[in-house]
Amino acid sequence: MDEILPESPCPIQSWVNQASAFVAHYAQGLLRIDAVAPDILRVRFAPSGRLAPPRSWSPVLDLPPAGLSVTEDNLVVRMSTDSIGATLDLQCGLLQFLTPDGQSFAADLGPPLWREVALEEINMEHMPEPELPEGDARIGVFLQKLMAPDEGYFGFGQRTGQLDRRHRRLTNWTIDRSSPGHSRGDDNMYQAHPVFMAVRPGLTWGLFLNSTWYSSFDVGAQDDDVLNIFTLGGELDYFVFAGPTPAAVVEQLTRLTGRPMLPPLWTMGYHQSRWSYGTDSDVREIARTFRDHWIPLDAIHLDIDYMDGYRVFTWDEDRFPAPSETIAALHADNVRVVTIIDPGVKKDLETGYQVAESGLGAGHFIAHADGEPFSGWVWPDESLFPDFCRDATRLWWGDQHSGLVEVGIDGFWCDMNEPSIVDRPFREPGVCEQPVPLSIAQGDDGEALHAETHNLYGQLMAQATWEGLKRLRPGQRPWVLTRSGFVGVQRWAASWMGDNNAWWEHLEMSLPQLASMGLCGSPHVGVDIGGFYQNTHAELYARWMELGTFYPFMRSHAHCDSRAQEPWSFGPEIEATARSAIELRYRLLPYLYTLAHLAHRSGEPLLRPLLYDFPDAAHLHQIHDQVMVGPQLMVAAIYSPGVRRRLVELPPGHTWYDFRTGLPVDSDHLVADAPLGGIPILVRGGSILTLGNVRPCTAEPLSELTLEIYPDHNNPGAWTLIEDDGESFAYQDGMLCERAMWISPGSQGAELSIAAQSGDFAPALRRLAIRLHLAQPPASVLLDDNAVEDWTWDEARHAVVLGLDDDGQEHRIVPRF
Ligand code: GLC
Repeated sequence: MDEILPESPCPIQSWVNQASAFVAHYAQGLLRIDAVAPDILRVRFAPSGRLAPPRSWSPVLDLPPAGLSVTEDNLVVRMSTDSIGATLDLQCGLLQFLTPDGQSFAADLGPPLWREVALEEINMEHMPEPELPEGDARIGVFLQKLMAPDEGYFGFGQRTGQLDRRHRRLTNWTIDRSSPGHSRGDDNMYQAHPVFMAVRPGLTWGLFLNSTWYSSFDVGAQDDDVLNIFTLGGELDYFVFAGPTPAAVVEQLTRLTGRPMLPPLWTMGYHQSRWSYGTDSDVREIARTFRDHWIPLDAIHLDIDYMDGYRVFTWDEDRFPAPSETIAALHADNVRVVTIIDPGVKKDLETGYQVAESGLGAGHFIAHADGEPFSGWVWPDESLFPDFCRDATRLWWGDQHSGLVEVGIDGFWCDMNEPSIVDRPFREPGVCEQPVPLSIAQGDDGEALHAETHNLYGQLMAQATWEGLKRLRPGQRPWVLTRSGFVGVQRWAASWMGDNNAWWEHLEMSLPQLASMGLCGSPHVGVDIGGFYQNTHAELYARWMELGTFYPFMRSHAHCDSRAQEPWSFGPEIEATARSAIELRYRLLPYLYTLAHLAHRSGEPLLRPLLYDFPDAAHLHQIHDQVMVGPQLMVAAIYSPGVRRRLVELPPGHTWYDFRTGLPVDSDHLVADAPLGGIPILVRGGSILTLGNVRPCTAEPLSELTLEIYPDHNNPGAWTLIEDDGESFAYQDGMLCERAMWISPGSQGAELSIAAQSGDFAPALRRLAIRLHLAQPPASVLLDDNAVEDWTWDEARHAVVLGLDDDGQEHRIVPRF
């Protein structure tokens, strides 16, 4: 991009300070810096001197602004809030950011520059147009920042490959990355997340490039220590997050772009899917087999063949003659049903297809300047595409779900919403319209070009679906799964990473993908377990189920041409492995659901890379095949055939316990045995892991809650279990049950204190099983100051075991030696 020299705006000629903003005029262009919160600064630079108008569909929320103090000394302006500072050199336009103690980060290497860009210069895949639309769409803005030598760059969405994206060039443009499935080197993906965090020992800061246009980051690929930021659209707009930890950056990002939705409890159970369980009897058979084989299951997904000729919001009457009855029968068995919905609406004006007719009648579809609706060719052949940028269209789309909601569909799976129109041979290129033209106007009164809105198409579809469900089933939490999305997608939907392959490489790849999504504020993520394309096989499937237990969203899904991929499809041995993987998932649900509440409160990802919990342990930053699941568990993947043991790094400063043996590991690493069905799982000392009993589904209340207590001499432990009714919004009004617990050091072991339940929700009656891991058996055990008779010592797992009825009251368990 360097043949045509970009223009420079310098020097800055004047500036003013407003309460929470700083505005400067360059010789050409305008710079505005806002303290949108005490720990978040927004920087905007418009070479035209005009800042772009706010967009109704922006993923950014309005936060109460913070005061920004501004002073000038020797042609350098200093700005600060309580948590972040910045200096701006008025002569050369260089901006750098500062921690409260004066450490510099995200320092500019030059002022922002701009010039006209041609389509062939950028990596906008699936856009075979001759050129970019005229105007802002062609104006690229460039900024260079210095990368500290010890900084790793993490996040950037669902990309494959290394966790740390230093030395890579990354572009942000949503595409259908399906055929023939993504691989390690891919750049553009289904989702676009122009957001990252830079992690160095002692400081993590973050940056969100607030551009829905095509944009890119060159993270030291061209020049080692130079971060190149680029966007189309004629304006540079980015947020800087002060950190100073990865957790703080995720909190700041999700404060700005919305906290993750709280999923209904059933969605955290196991989901079974296939393209497609083609008839109602197939679906019922699958559900029955799960129950007959005692394998827990909460949901079955119906892929495109349930529809009448792929017309969205219809049923194929031969395959599903009585959907209400089918769904009712599944519900009677506590199996929920999720249906796929694609955005392409069949252009069928002959059969009384109400969706096409009402959408056309009210002008809800993306249309050319002459009013002629745009057509794309997808599953149902010629199709029309809703313009989700319009409020009225999102309302209308949400309402289309009413029929499916009436028959009892529980959740919706938004697919093909990049929007995918081009990558498959639905029709001949050149004969039919292919992608949505970049120059087509979207939104009310043609507010913005598709070039600006493209990256938001899937996200706005998910939003329309979520909001529609909220209206159609008041009081019940909606659940939406989306393939495409942008920063902020967490407010509306869970996501899966698209069409992977039944390859070991894709099992391995899933962890950096999901962990990176968590760093981008989107915690409810999973991949197709077993692999989508190709035939999976016994060992790969078993290993994938073991790891999938820990995916925030656990679903197996497979392509129509691939072999059967249900837990019993590989013989009794693998079925047993799959069953115990799913059983473990159900045992972990009290913990995982608490993590979902924490994610909803602060963005904290359920599954995250080690650097999230151990940012100062630089030697752990690059590890992509061990992840933390919440603060208590660490899982080490097995992703090669025949492997039965592996090295596991144990982050320093903690006692680690082997989850399976219950015993502490006394080293900074572990060569862990990993037989099939035995993926290494470690528990961080100081944890109080809450495990439920195995249940066939989440609709069955817990009959027992186990507290596994893992003391750590260096780290006192505390945990608060969070429960609610699992499906309504009543938790927002205090219908919650929170149970604080903590470990205190005892003379030779540790004591456990459990606070009384707080909140208005009362869980069903259950037993409480306490398992206190200790180095040696105590002489006696006190429960609330009274000696207990019926405790036992589990010699193999070195644990005191005792049970009591969970009366919701305060308790204290003290071992005496
Ligand atoms: C897309 C989806 C996949 C689905 C298929 C058929 O490829 O990514 O999950 O099964 O379409 O609907």
